[in-house]
Amino acid sequence: MTVLKFSSRSDAPESATTPCLVVGIYEERVLGAAAQRVDAAAGGAIRRLLENGDATGKPGTSTLLFGLPGVAAERVLVVGLGEQKKFDAGVYHRVANDAARALKGLPIASAYSTLTELDVPGRDVAWKSRTAALAADAQAYRYTATFKPKDAPKTPQLQTIEFSASEGRALAEAAAIASGVRFAKELGNLPPNICNPAWIAAQAKQIAERHSGVTLEVLERDDMAKLGMGSLLGVAQGSANPPKLIVLQWKGKGEAKPYALVGKGITFDTGGISLKPGAGMEEMKFDMCGAAGVLGAFLAAVELQLPINLVCIVPAVENMPDGNAYRPSDILTSMSGLTIEVLNTDAEGRLILCDALTYAQTFDPQVIIDAATLTGACVVALGKHASGLMTRDDELAEQLLAAGNQTHDRAWRLPLWDDYQGQLESGFADIANIGGKYAGAITAGCFLSRFTNGRRWAHLDIAGTAWDEGRKGLATGRPVPLLVQYLIDRTR
Ligand code: BES
Ligand code: MN
Ligand code: ZN
Repeated sequence: MTVLKFSSRSDAPESATTPCLVVGIYEERVLGAAAQRVDAAAGGAIRRLLENGDATGKPGTSTLLFGLPGVAAERVLVVGLGEQKKFDAGVYHRVANDAARALKGLPIASAYSTLTELDVPGRDVAWKSRTAALAADAQAYRYTATFKPKDAPKTPQLQTIEFSASEGRALAEAAAIASGVRFAKELGNLPPNICNPAWIAAQAKQIAERHSGVTLEVLERDDMAKLGMGSLLGVAQGSANPPKLIVLQWKGKGEAKPYALVGKGITFDTGGISLKPGAGMEEMKFDMCGAAGVLGAFLAAVELQLPINLVCIVPAVENMPDGNAYRPSDILTSMSGLTIEVLNTDAEGRLILCDALTYAQTFDPQVIIDAATLTGACVVALGKHASGLMTRDDELAEQLLAAGNQTHDRAWRLPLWDDYQGQLESGFADIANIGGKYAGAITAGCFLSRFTNGRRWAHLDIAGTAWDEGRKGLATGRPVPLLVQYLIDRTR
């Protein structure tokens, strides 16, 4: 899965030879600097568009011009930026994606974008380059793995984007994040008859084989039994696909305490004996997007050779109903020793994560972050735009929220107050696996918190953000950008 190539370029827009030059115009007939130069060289061609009403400058619109006199580029894509006084980071993000969508339909192998020169309040050129580059790669991604192979396209496909006024480091970060995002999208999109626990383990093995400094360990059912992971194994026992606990390590900083990333890897969630309704169940192939996200973030961190130690832990399990499946009222004993009353076998994510969180602590990490498609309640609360962030650590919350804002992979914090813990009481075990009808995202977070022993830990509920809804909805690759930005920020 190769990402677009990003590079930086600095020649003047009107004299740059390229299959396609991208320039921006605001509403009310205001041209961006590059558009002004092209307009001047081409005898007012862009202004004429605005005067005729062929272009409006509204965001989401673009106009393609061919063979402009006095301009070296074969094509000029004139992109609407909206009102100049409202042009901010959010609009830039949208415009970068719109421009990329327009480019991908063209028969060109490369393009030269000047969007990086536009003024965006509070954002530097590194941010503008990275945002534009990530947008371009996001738009260029196509899922093809399970279609009948098509003949190679007869026209060139976009492979390279050049950015003006850009810088190498920002583009290298963009390339690494893009490859993590692509990895996460592809793993998320694959069907569960291919992407089962063994498949995820095989992808982790490829990461380890392709990068020096990375080590992999895969714990099998017997290994997990020896460690006492009765909670994870309880979920796994109804599936013919054996569970895997995948552990990747990156050593980029001697003996420093690692950052630990833990991702929910339910390769398909039927609900188990507490069976889900049929309608929409196919979406539960995406229930491993937490796993895909932390693996993608790990891959990006390794590609960037970040000077940190990192451990990535993925419990990969399938939740199936079966003669051997676990049942409501079963009591499971977790690796931590806490016993758990299963009141609903569909609240399985927390049951595999609790043992993974306990295991993560054997690495004595400085921070633990988990990502999980954990609750429908989080989608009700925050919709498809923000991931739910839960942590008791205010500093960690600020850092993760900032990383999300920086990458437009945003999260919103929900409280983890002790007031909610009472909802998890059980008459038969130390804790129940569901917390009743209120605050489902929070009680799931509270459940996980019982297995963190007061360590620095944050939980990201990505149930709403990991894939786009609908029959053709694809995995988004979130929260890879947030996680990678968080890790990059720790090295500055
Ligand atoms: N994987 C689901 C959560 C989910 C549901 C994510 C819909 C995205 C869309 C999770 O395992 C689950 O089933 N959670 C239950 C918990 C409940 C039984 C307490 C839920 O949210 O309904
Ligand atoms: Mn479930
Ligand atoms: Zn689930």
